[in-house]
Amino acid sequence: MSSARRRSVLVVAAVALFGGVAVARRGPAVTTRPPLPMSHKRHVEKDMKCRACHQGVEGEAMASFPTLADCMDCHKTPQGQEPTEPEVRALAAHRQEVSWVRRNRLAGHVYFSHAAHVTLAHMKCEDCHRDMRTMDRALTEPDVHQDMDACVACHRAKHASLDCLACHK
Ligand code: HEC
Ligand code: HEC
Ligand code: HEC
Ligand code: HEC
Ligand code: HEC
Repeated sequence: MSSARRRSVLVVAAVALFGGVAVARRGPAVTTRPPLPMSHKRHVEKDMKCRACHQGVEGEAMASFPTLADCMDCHKTPQGQEPTEPEVRALAAHRQEVSWVRRNRLAGHVYFSHAAHVTLAHMKCEDCHRDMRTMDRALTEPDVHQDMDACVACHRAKHASLDCLACHK
């Protein structure tokens, strides 16, 4: 059994045993809905580049998420006709930053770098993620499914590092 699978079995068991109590103690339950619905498809169709909103993706380990100030570059004036669009200005008016929900998160002992793959290895986002250019809703679960075997298989094929300490820091 993989560790991720082992973990999910444990989580299921824990929820079955302590369900209500655990949720009550941990405060708000896990957010299932994005704080502001935003269509990737509509924005990419307007020629926006991925890096406009994920600014770390070419030069840093983390791709990062946009701030509301990034959105307000355009949304300070109304854009399009969608009924959710005015929500951007409403949040900005309340100086309320959006806490985007991050779905992909490798185990804490694993080091991953977007810059290494996107810039050095010239990989496309869709080589690992699902095609966000066609998505008009947020992810509800992780879209990158790479355990150690998958990372190592590609590293071996492409003659990239197989050093334990490259991926475990
Ligand atoms: C207008 C800004 C914007 C653009 C342009 C944009 N994104 Fe995003 N992206 C976001 C926001 C906001 C989120 C988080 C909420 C959501 O998914 O709606 C997100 C989430 C993601 C996630 C989910 C990450 C996770 O682990 O939760 C992926 C993957 C992603 N974007 C890839 C892309 C790719 C690939 C492109 C270019 C084809 C792109 N994005 C263009 C704003 C943008
Ligand atoms: C480069 C300009 C630009 C930026 C930056 C931008 N948007 Fe937009 N946005 C648009 C345009 C243009 C439309 C209208 C598209 C349409 O209706 O087809 C739009 C539409 C929307 C809508 C309504 C339709 C939908 O996508 O669901 C929402 C909500 C939205 N944007 C949220 C955001 C958020 C949140 C950010 C920051 C993460 C952001 N936008 C950044 C240009 C931009
Ligand atoms: C080699 C595979 C790979 C490629 C290529 C890749 N990603 Fe990722 N992405 C991942 C993994 C793995 C994670 C989870 C990283 C972690 O937990 O440290 C992730 C996480 C993310 C996240 C959420 C967390 C963060 O890093 O801020 C966003 C947003 C994202 N990717 C966007 C993109 C975009 C945009 C591109 C293309 C420009 C891209 N990714 C290319 C594998 C990839
Ligand atoms: C489809 C192929 C592919 C996949 C999948 C992939 N990688 Fe890579 N990775 C590469 C390539 C190619 C490089 C070498 C980039 C360069 O230096 O030119 C690299 C480089 C790296 C580096 C930098 C290594 C160094 O020398 O410092 C790290 C860290 C890394 N990958 C971690 C991961 C992790 C963790 C995963 C799984 C979540 C993963 N990679 C999945 C192809 C891949
Ligand atoms: C290319 C990246 C990469 C390399 C190289 C790599 N690992 Fe990993 N390793 C991972 C990832 C990603 C995970 C997390 C898998 C998961 O959470 O499902 C992991 C998980 C682990 C775990 C936790 C147990 C498990 O199965 O999840 C151990 C222990 C481990 N690696 C040891 C090593 C050792 C020892 C080496 C060198 C021989 C090594 N790794 C090389 C990416 C790598």
